[in-house]
Amino acid sequence: MDTNAFGVAILAAGKGTRLKSKRPKVLHEIGGQSLLRHVIAAAKSVAAPQEIFCIIGHEAEKVRAAVADTGVRFVLQTEQRGTGHAMQVVKEEFARLAAAGEKLPEHLMVLSGDVPLIRPTTLEALASFHRGEDAAMTILTAEPHDPFGYGRVIRKGGPGSSYAREGREAPSAPGIVEAIVEQRDLKPEQRSVREINSGIYCFRTSALFNYLDRLSTNNANGEYYLTDVAGLMVAEGLRVVALKAESVDEVLGANTIAEMMHLDAAMRRAIAGKLMAQGVTIFRPDTCVIDSEVEIGADTVIEPFVQILGLTKIGPDCRVRSYSVIKDSVIGAGTLIRNGVLMEDAIIGEAALIGPYAHIRPGSDIGEAAHIGNFVETKKMQLGRGSKANHLSYLGDAVIGSGVNIGAGAITCNYDGVHKHTTTIGDGVFIGSDSTLVAPMTVGDGAYVAAGSCITDDVPAGALALGRSRQVTKEGWATAKKAERDAGKVSADPAADAIKGKV
Ligand code: UD1
Ligand code: CA
Repeated sequence: MDTNAFGVAILAAGKGTRLKSKRPKVLHEIGGQSLLRHVIAAAKSVAAPQEIFCIIGHEAEKVRAAVADTGVRFVLQTEQRGTGHAMQVVKEEFARLAAAGEKLPEHLMVLSGDVPLIRPTTLEALASFHRGEDAAMTILTAEPHDPFGYGRVIRKGGPGSSYAREGREAPSAPGIVEAIVEQRDLKPEQRSVREINSGIYCFRTSALFNYLDRLSTNNANGEYYLTDVAGLMVAEGLRVVALKAESVDEVLGANTIAEMMHLDAAMRRAIAGKLMAQGVTIFRPDTCVIDSEVEIGADTVIEPFVQILGLTKIGPDCRVRSYSVIKDSVIGAGTLIRNGVLMEDAIIGEAALIGPYAHIRPGSDIGEAAHIGNFVETKKMQLGRGSKANHLSYLGDAVIGSGVNIGAGAITCNYDGVHKHTTTIGDGVFIGSDSTLVAPMTVGDGAYVAAGSCITDDVPAGALALGRSRQVTKEGWATAKKAERDAGKVSADPAADAIKGKV
């Protein structure tokens, strides 16, 4: 590790009791990604992944597996006895690493796994302020409208400070911190303090480690509070300072589902704002759910009540109509997605037309200028350039060429109850309405399949295949039946007669 650089510790071991959820708090999602993933992404602006330590405990293996790909390191806090205890565990881990010959960081930034909107620029500003002030501890703070529930930062000489209480003159530096007091431990005269502790700090590592062993559980929650380190340092003349974040929103925590949804809305507003700044039109953005890694080209229009999720990329000049849900898909320029399309893991070419009410399932690869119409389901299939399946079809495990017309109600029978089989359809093929194509089978280029056929054998190029019984027409049959009824031989209403017991 580079000794001049910052290490980062992310507190992520807590259960999140206030969420009343089985899922560990840091794996709850906002903006389509877990809280912890957002925090790790921000942490990477101040430290390399191998200098980021995630403290995990509650459901540790689940949390580890969920973010292992980010390259961060993990420290196990088996019992969660408070944020101060979490840092005691980090101290022990660092002692082990030092014994193994690793150089440890001179400064340690501490982030909270449940404060996910924090921006890289704010962390960079905090780090440089901390260095500039040469402080033992630097606290990132904010003044939200309603500070209830947060720890409060008591400034020397400020409201709620010992100087104010004792009527003494404050010392020379009123910006300097006296202590952090948790909500449940606030004295009456401290309740009006609006400056909150964001749970994000920088420490000189050696100073932090010196004070951790002096923490006690003598507080309303019976936990080791990391926040108590501030008061302990100040009492021994160490420099503890605070920096106010530019925006309150980015330091808001998520302790309850309602708070989490508030952060989700804030994040999605920001995502929509960024896309609109790039030339995307989003009608009623508050009704749309767009994940943070989605990319959309200029002049694309997103109508109200659309969800665009995961790693979806939409080209320019597209339109996505209301009630469509698109996940992890790539859509080419100029394509129209009509109302109510459900799409996942698909590739759609340029100038295509999809929907309304189409179900485009994983592995669908729909070519340029192709049409998929209403109540068509596709899965693991390719549809060539300009091909059309406009009504009521199921096309699964199929390779379909260009310029093909799939009639209404035609389906691929891809499953024999045990295995999936492929249907291959050449270029320029015409599949008549209501055909069933029993895979594995191939229809050659330019062939025709007659409407209503059940096709079980390959159809050569240029052929016509009929797979249905011949039509039988009985001249005069219906007229004769009517005459019988009129003569009273057959009831006009057999069902009613049955009820009356006549038949
Ligand atoms: C904490 C701060 C509070 C601050 C608020 C900001 C303390 C004592 N209080 O309160 O001053 O205003 O954050 O959001 O620090 N965690 C562990 N191990 C534990 C306990 C907690 O890793 O043993 C983790 C949690 O998973 C969470 C973070 O630490 O990510 C903060 O814990 P939480 O219980 O949410 O603290 P708050 O009550 O929000
Ligand atoms: Ca919290």
